[in-house]
Amino acid sequence: MKTLAKFLTAAALSTALLAGPALAAGKVKNAKDIAFSFEGPFGTFDRAQLQRGFQVYQEVCSACHSTDLLSYRNLGDHGGPEFPEAQVKAVAAEVEVQDGPNGDGEMFDRPGRPSDKFKAPFSNDNEARASNDGALPPDLSLITKAREGFHYPWYVSPFIKMWTGNGGPEYVHAVLTGYTDPPEKEADHAPEGKSYNAYFAAGPWISMAPPLTEDGVEYSDGTKASVDQMAKDVSAFLAWAGEPKMEERKTMGLRVMIYLLILAILMYLIKLKLWRDVEH
Ligand code: HEC
Repeated sequence: MKTLAKFLTAAALSTALLAGPALAAGKVKNAKDIAFSFEGPFGTFDRAQLQRGFQVYQEVCSACHSTDLLSYRNLGDHGGPEFPEAQVKAVAAEVEVQDGPNGDGEMFDRPGRPSDKFKAPFSNDNEARASNDGALPPDLSLITKAREGFHYPWYVSPFIKMWTGNGGPEYVHAVLTGYTDPPEKEADHAPEGKSYNAYFAAGPWISMAPPLTEDGVEYSDGTKASVDQMAKDVSAFLAWAGEPKMEERKTMGLRVMIYLLILAILMYLIKLKLWRDVEH
């Protein structure tokens, strides 16, 4: 009887673990897991990847999406893409920024400085909608924090996500690479001007046409710019944008754990000393 109970529990557990993800996926497809360098308690960003990701962001995504929370100087910050200062200045100087008023009370345009925020492609949401068939391209500053790539039933979700994370960067990668022809039964009522993307959270129809094309950018480090590579790089860049101090947080966490370990050993030695002559 005992063996049977054990067997049943094991069977129930493994069904929950294995079949769960498939059942819970519902309409939005689970993103493909990617082994990013910045995952896990010791993971750090791959500088070269962040630099390539910025290039993709700059040359492709920034035509429609803003990233309000970043300033150009952040590109040179420790723990980020770490562009040299001269390059950060050059990138900032490429945009025109409105400043003022000057002595005559007039606003004027000047080249950007590292302290300026990333320039948004549109001056307000209505203009952004008007240029995108009524759809608003969301700000990308926190997109990897705001979206989840993985969906599991609630009773296993926290345990799996302890290892995999929420899959925010994977979500961005999946949206960028997940365009397909619609299934036959959906094809008949395809909304005009929209593409089919089973990974899009508010999908499956999306107003963003596939933004990446093979060799769409030319990487200066010689990496082949396949759609998959560009999607991975820009997802990593946006993961950094969402948490620019991640490396600092992990280093601090590690130091605190080492400190607590040393403290625990000291406390134990003190306890041994204090209780040495006491009968117990
Ligand atoms: C031509 C304009 C355009 C370009 C270029 C563009 N996007 Fe978009 N994007 C949009 C629009 C519009 C939407 C909103 C789609 C909708 O609501 O149906 C969107 C949606 C998205 C979403 C889904 C957001 C969500 O709410 O889950 C992501 C992620 C995204 N874009 C990332 C990118 C990245 C990364 C790039 C660069 C590789 C890029 N986009 C390039 C217009 C664009």
